Amino acid sequence: MPRTFRCLAVRLTLTVAALAAGAAVSAETGHDLWLRYAPLADGAARAAYRQSASAIVVPLATPTGEIVASELKRGLTGLLGAEIPRADRPSSAGAIVAGTPASPLIAALGWTETLARLGDEGYVIRAATVGGVPATVIASKGEAGVLYGAFHLLRLIQTGEPLLRVDIAERPRIARRLLNHWDNLDGSIERGYAGRSFWWPDRVDARVVDYARANASIGINGTVINSVNANPQSLTAPLLEKAAAIAAMLRPYRIRVYLAANFSAPRTIGGLATNDPLDPGVARWWRAKADEIYRLIPDFGGFVVKANSEGQPGPQDYGRTHADGANVLADALAPHGGVVMWRAFVYNADVDPDRVKRAYAEFVPLDGKFRANVFAQVKNGPLDFQPREPFHPMFGAMPKTPLMAELQITQEYLGQSNHLVYLAPMWKEFLDADTFAKGPGSPVARVVDGSLEGKSDTGIAGVANTGLDANWTGHDLAQANWYAFGRLAWDPGLGAGAIADEWIRMTWGDAPDVVATIRSILLDSREAYVHYTMPLGLHHLIGGDHYAPMPENTDSRRADWSATFYHRADASGIGYDRTRAGSGGVEQYQAPLREWWSHPASTPDDLLLWFHHLPWDYRMKSGRTLWDELVLSYGRGVDEAKGLELRWATLRGRIDEARYQAVLAKLRRQSDDAKAWRDKCVAYFEAARTRRP
Ligand code: GCU
Repeated sequence: MPRTFRCLAVRLTLTVAALAAGAAVSAETGHDLWLRYAPLADGAARAAYRQSASAIVVPLATPTGEIVASELKRGLTGLLGAEIPRADRPSSAGAIVAGTPASPLIAALGWTETLARLGDEGYVIRAATVGGVPATVIASKGEAGVLYGAFHLLRLIQTGEPLLRVDIAERPRIARRLLNHWDNLDGSIERGYAGRSFWWPDRVDARVVDYARANASIGINGTVINSVNANPQSLTAPLLEKAAAIAAMLRPYRIRVYLAANFSAPRTIGGLATNDPLDPGVARWWRAKADEIYRLIPDFGGFVVKANSEGQPGPQDYGRTHADGANVLADALAPHGGVVMWRAFVYNADVDPDRVKRAYAEFVPLDGKFRANVFAQVKNGPLDFQPREPFHPMFGAMPKTPLMAELQITQEYLGQSNHLVYLAPMWKEFLDADTFAKGPGSPVARVVDGSLEGKSDTGIAGVANTGLDANWTGHDLAQANWYAFGRLAWDPGLGAGAIADEWIRMTWGDAPDVVATIRSILLDSREAYVHYTMPLGLHHLIGGDHYAPMPENTDSRRADWSATFYHRADASGIGYDRTRAGSGGVEQYQAPLREWWSHPASTPDDLLLWFHHLPWDYRMKSGRTLWDELVLSYGRGVDEAKGLELRWATLRGRIDEARYQAVLAKLRRQSDDAKAWRDKCVAYFEAARTRRP
């Protein structure tokens, strides 16, 4: 970077950082997320940390280095309640030194081999002697690692971990850790429940900087800034200029910009007669477009594409395959190092009458036909972000193709921003699910992190739940889902409870009763939601708003947008038969899953009606009839929802009043909605059960 530009960038960063710091002193609006840096309550702990934080030394004169230094200063000053000075070198015991081996201070430590092994994003945090004095060192081969390490060190203090004798070495398990924003160019957000977009139509700078900080603190390193239902205009020159300006703001935080591309762009904005991916003119158009993008955004990440899905154009319009479509874009991006994330969310009714089977049917035969820089981007389950689904059978079934997992942080089908559903347990269920692709011990996490097939370019994407609402996510507790997504993307092995603990301490305080109460509320919330909405493997019992119970929904546009299509409740029973005798969906899973799930007795209760249509008097493992079990689940869900509210009420006076009241109001609504779900579904199924054929 030329020097003048670098100085400008540093100054810009400092100005924006100062602006953001100004916002941080305001009351508890939730804006500060888990980066509140509230003074530690325990004076003795504060004093102990002060011993290890006499000065901040960051020998890294770049925009990222500047962010590291100012974040450490902001965090330490806030947490320890004292101004911690910056210095050029450690001169007294207890300095915090952060940098790369490009600095002689770090190079002299002789850690080069370890740092090389941990890569550009990995880091060590270690007690060491630097320049003759005891220090705590954050070191990485790359600037990104220094940034992540700095946030990790602050997290240690925020969560009360001792710094003495600290010895941590970390590296991310997944290479591309992305948020997908379904933001439209007019500023609305598809399935967004927390206000309007901070990217479009005009970016909101203070938000963008705080967003970047928050993401850097959890290791997110890429963002798709427009909706998968992409407006072709997103790739026109004026919009690319806007994307480039956003990319410049995110770059020092080590976040790359990606764009959703519309497959019809050659025709709609390029004026060509066709979008046929095998047409040489189309290939030329995509190459020129990629060149234009990289001139503006040299570290551009690549394209996500929704093609031949829900009415979007795609290669099948020309009799071509998904591989043909993905490859023409991949070839255009390859010279620049970009990737294509080709979404597998397709469900053409001609392919198979059962919607959940269609993606596998279209994609698995194409394994090995995609270019090396193409990911298939696959939702966690085969339907669509339901409260509970089995894992998508494509995981483990395409060994030659890197699969990018797509999770949904925004709670489209999970109560949106009105209900608390802490999603980490659901994501863990998915990541830990054994695909048996290479025998037992082949969990989804190992497909996604590449270790099962020895892949190094790997990825995971989360559909963002952020917007311009003061607290970012509409529901104060939904911030936990953004946080948890980042932490699991970094390390899918982390536990949902451990992540909750971190987040609570940083966001709400570390009093043991507060931590224990919020933890139990978070951890119980997902199962409660399943119980009062879609227990025992039921799915899609909603209408067009994807919020309220609507088991009677019969959509005239498409059978597979209907609730009745999925639950099939009548006098004979309830559930979707996906055994060999039914749609055969179970056959898409590897043995022994396909045998287990072919029989109701060896199917887990919580997936029972996903795979089976059973009579109402079917005897459950509990000894109860299916009908009684169903009614019991709905009732239990209502009690559990009430329990979340009651437990929260015990926190009055223990946390700030504004956030306490805001969450209480949401939990009351959740509790009322749970009753509505129970009453509607139980009455509907009762009528179906007793209706004369
Ligand atoms: C869901 C969602 C849509 C979205 C689609 C997708 O169906 O309701 O809004 O466009 O998923 O993932 O492409």
